[in-house]
Amino acid sequence: MKNIILIAAPAAGKGTQAKLIEEKYGLIHISTGDLLRSEVSSNSELGIELDKIMKKGQLVNDEIVEDLLRKKINSSNSNGFVLEGYPRNLNQASRLDVILNEINKKIDYVIYLDVPFEVALKRSSGRLQCKYCGKIYNLNDEKLRPLKNGICNNCGKEIYQRNDDNEESFKIRFNTYLENTKPLIDYYKSKGLLKEVDSSKDCYTVFSSIENIIGK
Ligand code: AP5
Repeated sequence: MKNIILIAAPAAGKGTQAKLIEEKYGLIHISTGDLLRSEVSSNSELGIELDKIMKKGQLVNDEIVEDLLRKKINSSNSNGFVLEGYPRNLNQASRLDVILNEINKKIDYVIYLDVPFEVALKRSSGRLQCKYCGKIYNLNDEKLRPLKNGICNNCGKEIYQRNDDNEESFKIRFNTYLENTKPLIDYYKSKGLLKEVDSSKDCYTVFSSIENIIGK
């Protein structure tokens, strides 16, 4: 069993790498961004409120995210999980320690995907995602384009552009990351859990570096 956390700037490639890890190692992929977007598409009262916050690139209230995370993490299988998008600040990191302690689980690796601002901005501007299965594409990268315009290679459903993938919202998300999330790197370094990967390379090179950490 392996429990892995991916930490990175917005659009650094967390979701893309998490899907590759899920496929190869049979871990459950948990993305708090996806959990929140799923609440938004349900059109619930909460979803409508979340949409306004996420569109602006701001962080959602810690308690709301924790509630969604708890439901998902409890359903994770015995192979473990790959968690991305959480924790996002020091309070969430200490809440995660509590949650995992309650269910007798521990973190094995925290992998920091390092990428410069300009690279992440470009990735964000070309990103498309499947509404149904969550597969992620990129119009700026030949290997990551969908085979048919607007259609998911996996499930044939519609792919769309996220409403926070514009330059204005990206800059807010990036600054929020610097202020709130980057301090987690020292937090996990001090616990001896942190591993660093250069995420500016192509996605299969990045994945190979991750395999070297987790074990082939
Ligand atoms: P979230 O969905 O977590 O957004 P994010 O952190 O901004 O991260 P992204 O999903 O943008 O990027 P990613 O790193 O997964 O990159 P991806 O693999 O898609 O959160 C969205 C919002 O929800 C937040 O702003 C906040 O409001 C809220 N939220 C979520 N969690 C929260 C929490 N814990 N607390 C409070 N609020 C929370 O890749 C990006 C693009 O690049 C893709 O097109 C991909 O195909 C391409 N790509 C990936 N890797 C490569 C590569 N190596 N080379 C070339 N292209 C690549």
